[in-house]
This record gives sequence, C-alpha cells and structure tokens, in this order.
Amino acid sequence: ARLLEPRGKLAGKRIVVTAGPTREPLDPVRYLTNHSTGKQGIALAEAAWRRGAAVVLVHGPLSAPAPVGAVLKPVETTQDMAEAVASEVGDADVLIMAAAPADFRPAQVASAKMKKTGTAPTLALEETPDILKSTAGHRKAGMIAVGFALETDDVAENAQKKLAAKQLTMIVANSAREAGAGFGHDTNRVTIFAANGTAEEFPLLSKRETADAILDRIEAML
Ligand code: CTP
Ligand code: CA
Repeated sequence: ARLLEPRGKLAGKRIVVTAGPTREPLDPVRYLTNHSTGKQGIALAEAAWRRGAAVVLVHGPLSAPAPVGAVLKPVETTQDMAEAVASEVGDADVLIMAAAPADFRPAQVASAKMKKTGTAPTLALEETPDILKSTAGHRKAGMIAVGFALETDDVAENAQKKLAAKQLTMIVANSAREAGAGFGHDTNRVTIFAANGTAEEFPLLSKRETADAILDRIEAML
C-alpha cells in the first residue's frame, strides 16, 4: 500500500494546467484557431503528476499525445475553457495557464454553412474573455498563478505587463522569433519573470526540462 501512496514534493497539491489552442466556430464547418499544439502544457501536467500532484488538464484540441496521470477536461472555445477553469480553480494550489486561448471569436456564429455568393463576407470579431484575469477573485489564498507570454517584440516589457495585469506569481516568456522554440517545437527558450522582481533566463531546453524548471520554482514557493 505504501508504494501506492502519493510521494514526491507535490504530493497533496491540486494543480490545474491548461494546454493547447481553442477553436472559435464561424459556422458548423469552420473555425478560427492558432498554431498551439499543447506540448508545453502536456509536459507540465505529466511532470506535476510524476511529482505527486493531483493534476487536472483543461485542454483544447491537442496535436500531441495526452499526458499520463492527469484528469482530462477537453474543451472547444475560449469561453468553454474559462468555464472549465472556473469550476476547477477554487480549490487549486496552483494554476498554470500554458494554453493559447483564441483572443477573438466571430461576433456571429452562422447556424448553417456559409455559402459562396460571389462576394466574400467581412468577418466581425469580438474579444474572448481573459481566463487568467477572470480567476483573480476566485483563487484561494496563496494560490500560485503561472502565465505564459509568447511575444514577437519587447518580450520582457510585455511579459512584465501581463504579470501585473493578470496578478500572476510568475510568467514564462518566450519569443516567437526564437529559432527552435514555441509553437510545435519540442524545445523552448524561456525567461521566467516572478512577481518578486526576479528574471531568470534559460538556455534552449526540451519542453520537459522547461516544465521541470517551472515546477522547481513552484515547489520552492509552496
Ligand atoms: N490567456 C488567458 N485568457 C485569454 C488569453 C490568454 O488566460 N483569453 C492567458 C494565456 O494562457 C497565457 C497568458 O494569458 O498564460 C498570456 O497570454 P498571451 O496570449 O501572451 O496574452 P494576452 O493577454 O492574450 O494578450 P496578447 O495576445 O494581446 O498579447
Ligand atoms: Ca493572446
């Protein structure tokens, strides 16, 4: 029985991880999305489970195998992801938002397939809810909130703005201009900015190693 008891530094902790893109329907056959594959969130969920945590993975459509150990909550739209996170976050010790939720959705979703008419339609978009921000009032005291930031320019400045605006404990920033890092790759090159002002720059690491670096810092704070 002893062997089956949760061990590891994160034993007894509840961790909610999000991964992947979301899909915003335009009509019954079309949607807007992005290039996220879910690999970094999957690596985080599996690594957290291996450290003994109870892990819930809220995920959009994944382009990589689901992790071992985590309870999976599949979702489609950013609104769906917001609702799934809201229902899990109340008793979480850690929330890691590795997902790339779609920022915009069609203002109107057609109930039937949009047909060609000879004139291309103009799409009206609206913003989706900010999931991290919307959890701010529902976090238990001391919950660690970790965000990601993928930027093309002014990485440090933009990441630090998001750290403050979303009331995060830390934000994992990477540059979309970095070769071999970000969407689709098995590697990542990140800088972790913490609310206490520290910035740690890492070399090119596998997404598993990146997950371990993030979890090491979370463990040290719990
Ligand atoms: N995020 C979120 N809800 C959204 C969009 C993003 O919770 N609707 C989270 C992401 O999962 C990530 C962090 O916020 O952890 C930063 O995401 P990012 O796309 O870099 O920032 P945005 O706030 O969406 O701003 P922008 O895309 O305009 O840079
Ligand atoms: Ca965004």
